[in-house]
Amino acid sequence: MDIEITEKQEKFINSKAFETLFGGAAGGGKSYGQLIDAFLYALKYPKSSQIIFRRTFPDLEKSIIRKSLEIYPRQVASYNSSKHIWNFKNGSIIDFGYIDNEKDVYQYQSAEYDVIRFDELTHFTEYMYIYMISRCRGANNYPKGIKSSSNPGNIGHSWVKARFIDIGEPNKVHEVKTAEGDTTTVIFIPSLVQDNIFLLQKDKDYIRRLDLLPEKERKALKYGDWDIFDGQFFSEFRRDIHVIEPFEIPESWRRFRTRDYGLDMCATLWIALDWNMNAYIYKELYESDLIVSEAAKKINNMTNEKIYCDYAPPDLWNRNKDTGKSTADLFSESNQYLTKADNNRVQGWLAVHEWLKLYTDEQGLLNSKLKIFNNCTNLIRTLPAITHDEKNPNDVATEPHELTHLPDALRYFCTMYQTPATKKIEIPKEGFYSKTELVDLGYVNVDIPTKGVIPLTKRRR
Ligand SMILES: Nc1ncnc2c1ncn2[C@@H]1O[C@H](COP(=O)(O)OP(=O)(O)O)[C@@H](O)[C@H]1O
Ligand SMILES: [Mg+2]
Repeated sequence: MDIEITEKQEKFINSKAFETLFGGAAGGGKSYGQLIDAFLYALKYPKSSQIIFRRTFPDLEKSIIRKSLEIYPRQVASYNSSKHIWNFKNGSIIDFGYIDNEKDVYQYQSAEYDVIRFDELTHFTEYMYIYMISRCRGANNYPKGIKSSSNPGNIGHSWVKARFIDIGEPNKVHEVKTAEGDTTTVIFIPSLVQDNIFLLQKDKDYIRRLDLLPEKERKALKYGDWDIFDGQFFSEFRRDIHVIEPFEIPESWRRFRTRDYGLDMCATLWIALDWNMNAYIYKELYESDLIVSEAAKKINNMTNEKIYCDYAPPDLWNRNKDTGKSTADLFSESNQYLTKADNNRVQGWLAVHEWLKLYTDEQGLLNSKLKIFNNCTNLIRTLPAITHDEKNPNDVATEPHELTHLPDALRYFCTMYQTPATKKIEIPKEGFYSKTELVDLGYVNVDIPTKGVIPLTKRRR
């Protein structure tokens, strides 16, 4: 077999760390590096077993399986296409696997691999990765390792970045303490398109095509930049601006409730609206496995204030075939009369963007119309963590599902048209007031001419 490899691929193949990430620009030769590395390992260590993962089977088939069929010589190994395994004459195997959702990892409960490989690691959740680490073992003294390759971006961007990039200098083995208290060795090998002479010779226009991508994608795919693109849906989210210390909310502000309810999670937010249309999320309920009556009870226990409007998604009005009652009916039995919110996702997310938007206020400071009290820890955790849907950048990815409940609840509030309560105040004395003065006095929605003055005598209480 006649193969040439790039310098970076050689580094990847020779990595001495237990966990290796070959990460960066698209076209850098990462997936090819995986295949060559797996092949060399299989030959060098007879009866060894390895697996290469992609998130979905179509992803596997279209890319890495196809490539392996192209490059692996049949003199030493044969491919079993129904089992997706390469069987080597020396007894080694290379499996191909996919982990569509988190429960799929249990299929590998009794599996043992010398080397586990993830291609496009950022498509996986951290749970999937950690679970599979425990399957890396074997009754031989072959070097064990988890070897991954990935572009930046996608749902796993943050944890992959934290695990491999944020730990320190690239191209250097770091000893790292894991959350479980073990020590592991980790290396990040950055990959650039420019490293891949094979691609650049064959496809001279490749880099030019990357230049046509939108800014964020270009930075991720052309430069392999891990800081710019993170797939984050609410990239405007700023902890220092959107999260605030709780304060006592004036009684005259309108209070809202909004929820996403299911047995998997009852996610409810309490929101107050001031006279200038600023919204303050001041309480959250985030609890799983509550049947409707229990959820309703918890929500009632957390509510002393008058709720002006209580939003919920339309599917809560679906009737149960046996009882004829809907979830909304059941909530109403606990005095929670829900308002059906619009469930157009794209429009709804745009509305959330609008509420979160940063602007410069009169004092010249960055500000936002939506603030979250710092006691709403689950919202603060999940809102910045949700990512773009792969197929529709204007929608939020529905995986990991756990992240979506509170953002969904918030969306139901944001997508509905809101007006603030009118401020009721004592008018100091009879006389003529300009519109500006009236507004200063708190008459936000009074219907008065924009110019001139109006007599207030008639408006006395
Ligand atoms: N060492 C190599 N020899 C020949 N072709 C290579 C080599 N490395 C990569 N390539 C080719 O370059 C292209 C991009 O490589 P790939 O591994 O798919 O990149 P990445 O996974 O980083 O996006 C593919 O067509 C691949 O076959
Ligand atoms: Mg690839």
